[in-house]
Amino acid sequence: MELLEALKNRRTTNTRFLEKPISDEHIRTLIEAASYAPSHMNSQPWRFVVIRDEQRRKKIGRVARESMRLVMERGAFWKRYLKYFRFNKEDINASGDGIYIDKLPKVIQPFARYIFSEKGAEWMIKLRVPSILALDSEKLITSSPLILAVLLTKDEFRPQELSGLYSTLALGMAIENIWLTANSIGIGIQFISLPMEAGGDMWQRCVGLVGVPDTHEMIALFRIGYIDPNAKRPTIDWSSTQRKDISGYCFEEQFGVPWQPEAASLFTGITHKETLGNYSPQQPEQAATPTDSQN
Ligand SMILES: Cc1cc2nc3c(=O)[nH]c(=O)nc-3n(C[C@H](O)[C@H](O)[C@H](O)COP(=O)(O)O)c2cc1C
Repeated sequence: MELLEALKNRRTTNTRFLEKPISDEHIRTLIEAASYAPSHMNSQPWRFVVIRDEQRRKKIGRVARESMRLVMERGAFWKRYLKYFRFNKEDINASGDGIYIDKLPKVIQPFARYIFSEKGAEWMIKLRVPSILALDSEKLITSSPLILAVLLTKDEFRPQELSGLYSTLALGMAIENIWLTANSIGIGIQFISLPMEAGGDMWQRCVGLVGVPDTHEMIALFRIGYIDPNAKRPTIDWSSTQRKDISGYCFEEQFGVPWQPEAASLFTGITHKETLGNYSPQQPEQAATPTDSQN
């Protein structure tokens, strides 16, 4: 896959993966990809834990399930993220950002706007939405062949100092390297952020399961697996291939003056592929095997 095509087609995979372990060769390729990222003074502050043991994956899945239920029931999730939800094409086209909820169970479709609000949390609970989503989440995580924990050394990750910022930047670049490499060989990735969102001891339970010592900070968890192009979409699903127009996030000469170039970019001719595990309602789903995207 060409670089620009790979960049434009990198996707979050929120469907089930194939029931197939990831080969050592592929895992090593992903982790080595991280090491080619830049880092301040070539410090390479990233550390990774590759988790394949079924029991450990199950335990992390369990924490994610409890976290999802807690976060949804408390309503904090809706309060924090309501501004990102879009419910129709007009809204998504106008903003160019956010999460377009384009698949909802029929029973709640007419109430979408209301339900995805802080007040709607009560309705959600009545309709058992938090429990359904929590179970979905647990199944997705437990059935993923690999969970990747991403850490920084506390030598470098000192949040009040420049090295805290630098190491976080470097880690973001390392993660993007992993992600692009993964998608290019038919492997999908999804953040597991809910335990962090839930607060309390949820994240610490994950930290304990990963065996992270005091000298290191666990920054993120991901579930990883081979993309199943025929996977069923989750109960409540979203698409987020949309991006803002360049004038909405890039300025000319001075901040606040939108840059409106006449030239098209090299991305213009590249279309979104629908084979990376995420789906767009505008385009038909195509059948593909993980090896289809290997080139
Ligand atoms: C810090 C961070 C946390 C995220 N947490 C989650 C998450 O918990 N679950 C999830 O499905 N996606 C998560 N995402 C992925 C975003 O939702 C996704 O990148 C965005 O909607 C754009 O979609 P795309 O990755 O397919 O381009 C996270 C992304 C970032 C950068």
